[in-house]
Amino acid sequence: MSEKPVLWVTRKLSASTEARAARDYCVILNPDDTLASADDIVEMSRKVDAILPCHSEIFDRDVAGRLASRVRIIANHSVGVDHCDLEALSSRGIVVTNTPDVLSDATAEIAMLLLLGAARRAAEGDILVRNGQWRSWSPSFMVGHQVTGKRLGIVGMGRVGQVMARRAAGFDMEIHYHNRSRLDPELENGAVFHAELDSLLEVSEFLSLHCPATAETRGLMNARAFSMLPDNAILVNTARGALVDESALLEALDSGKVAAAGLDCFQTEPGGNPAFAGHPNVFMLPHIGSATFETRDAMGFRALDNLDAYFSGREPRDRVA
Ligand code: DGY
Repeated sequence: MSEKPVLWVTRKLSASTEARAARDYCVILNPDDTLASADDIVEMSRKVDAILPCHSEIFDRDVAGRLASRVRIIANHSVGVDHCDLEALSSRGIVVTNTPDVLSDATAEIAMLLLLGAARRAAEGDILVRNGQWRSWSPSFMVGHQVTGKRLGIVGMGRVGQVMARRAAGFDMEIHYHNRSRLDPELENGAVFHAELDSLLEVSEFLSLHCPATAETRGLMNARAFSMLPDNAILVNTARGALVDESALLEALDSGKVAAAGLDCFQTEPGGNPAFAGHPNVFMLPHIGSATFETRDAMGFRALDNLDAYFSGREPRDRVA
């Protein structure tokens, strides 16, 4: 590279990521970590060759249409790309990349935490002790659902789903999955494939979502899907809020069809859905699936690897558009 490309890093990233970006690019950082509006993105696009955004910056059809032609690549710091209208960006000749693989372990950890926390009433128990309201104990106190040996249904057996399956196997869970295609036997590792989502739902005492939010998967967990689960099923979502019809989930929780839920993702982010707050059997986290020090570095480096490849004339490894 003769002259360094101008790169806008939209959010505050790990120190190592920002140091590497500053070394290799003429970088515009965001030390205050402010959120860019659509107009901010369009305005900034006039000054930069590349953007390194997170899922918090929305590149919908409108923004894609208004981006300055100077922008050549959007190297996302996320595996999910549902915040990007890939077709619209591609039609503008803008390359788009993501950061697969590197967040699978961290996200599966949070999925396991939510699964265990929802089953064993972690939020409820924490609140009791924290607020000084734990005043008695008896064998009938705070009884939850055992995880060991239960059936776990995984929707989306990609990288995160596969790590989740391995972690859950450590709890002797019987793994079932639904995926666009069946995995090879060595990757499947004894898990039971369901070609149809419905047949997975019917057997899933626990159900964990690991598929991207696309036109096909939005609202996947609707009233009909919840009704197909076994009674007292437990739902875990670390993928995207858009996969779950939250009103249907609330109804399923209220009717007792769904015993508990562990949610890291919501239809509205940040903020979540205040209606869940009245449900002690919902264990919630604020979209922190990939939030570990190690994974933040790895995501930042992977995004920079994609930029480096692009600006040295090579195909970026994680090109999605
Ligand atoms: C992802 O990478 O998609 C995570 O949700 C964090 O953005």
